[in-house]
Amino acid sequence: MRIAMIGTGYVGLVSGACLADFGHEVTCIDKDSKKIEALKNGIMPIWEPGLESLVKANVERGRLNFTTDLAEGVQGAEAVFIAVGTPARRGDGHADLTYVFEAVRELAKVLKGPVVVVTKSTVPVGTGDRITELLAEEGAPAGTTVASNPEFLREGAAIRDFKIPDRIVVGAEDERAREVLREIYRPLFLNQAPLLFTGRRTSELIKYAANAFLAMKISFINEMANLCEAVDADVHDVARGIGLDNRIGPKFLHPGPGYGGSCFPKDTLALLQTAADAGVEQRIVKTVVEVNDDRKASMADRVAKALGGSAKGKRIAILGLAFKQNTDDMRDAPSIPLVTKLLEMGASISAYDPVAAGNARKLLPGAEFAKDAYGAAKDADALVVVTEWDEFRGLDLDRFAKSMRGKLIVDLRNVYNRADAEEAGLSYIGLGRGRID
Ligand code: UDX
Repeated sequence: MRIAMIGTGYVGLVSGACLADFGHEVTCIDKDSKKIEALKNGIMPIWEPGLESLVKANVERGRLNFTTDLAEGVQGAEAVFIAVGTPARRGDGHADLTYVFEAVRELAKVLKGPVVVVTKSTVPVGTGDRITELLAEEGAPAGTTVASNPEFLREGAAIRDFKIPDRIVVGAEDERAREVLREIYRPLFLNQAPLLFTGRRTSELIKYAANAFLAMKISFINEMANLCEAVDADVHDVARGIGLDNRIGPKFLHPGPGYGGSCFPKDTLALLQTAADAGVEQRIVKTVVEVNDDRKASMADRVAKALGGSAKGKRIAILGLAFKQNTDDMRDAPSIPLVTKLLEMGASISAYDPVAAGNARKLLPGAEFAKDAYGAAKDADALVVVTEWDEFRGLDLDRFAKSMRGKLIVDLRNVYNRADAEEAGLSYIGLGRGRID
């Protein structure tokens, strides 16, 4: 099947490359000519494990093409995916649909025959209805319909998530759209992935509900971690003890410095806006957002407290800046408020991240950046782990202890354990692992 993908950001590029890998003929379209040129030369705009080789292999086989020309890119396509950005709109937190509507308007003008327009971008409930109207207004060929097919990809594991999904959700209002999407995802049914057909508005809501629920699990366990610190309990045992109950499930119960990234913060806010517009309260989601904002804001105080009450004049090593491991994405990363506040408190910062340092430099101009973890830790009063990169797990704690001025680890991801740190002569503060006075 011929498929066009408008938008070669994170979602569009991963989805386009994976669909091509299933044997479909995919053209990825983007307005950014530099990006398209780079992609044609095998240079990726983002850092995602396995993406480069997947793109290159499918380009070589002639199944994956890149273009800046929309008319050429959608030529002969049966399905046109829209995977452009839907950032949070400044001021009200609503999803900004400017790029989506712009793409739809342009698409309507260049289509020569009916297609199924599929929204992959995360769009608020009712966007499919609006796109349907817009296509008609702009004179799209009769028979062009709109379906919703949200993505559930995690950065850092996106290719695996696309190819072995827990489920595929398709929201459609007509049989043709259902048929086309069934055909597109046929290779996945062979992997037994359930395909759930719903109404279009329901499908749009499922994406937000899924992200809000996962954000809720994280905020829940983060508050439990706080309680564990007060009552001398271990949050990992709590997580395991509740997670073994199938009704709860073991995933997304890892405490941390608060969730970040391009989805949870933005989508929870957009969901609240949708609910407010509909005149319906969403008290749980509202509280989840508040808990997370407070959590991120409190991490600098946690470090200052561990340093005896003040970070002034202290040198603090930061291990990890990305919002989670295996990505160079800094969007809404907990490291940003942490480092900013520590600098405001009068600390100096020496940071290290395996891949996100380039993106972080612009956001954290007051910080110094080291070439590796040991370089960051040199002469530091405290070492703060902010991202759970695997490469941090096996670091030599004795080496840290020798080169640091202070002997303190504040582990905001619980990648180390107290016994190992203490054996190396470091004092250790994790999250929710027993009493913190
Ligand atoms: C998320 C969803 O998982 C994905 O389905 C959706 O399509 C997009 O948003 P992503 O933002 O890439 O994906 O990352 P994810 O792995 O879900 O992590 C989100 C945030 O939650 C990170 O900051 C992570 O560190 C944090 N997190 C996750 C925790 O603090 N604890 C956990 O147990 C899990």
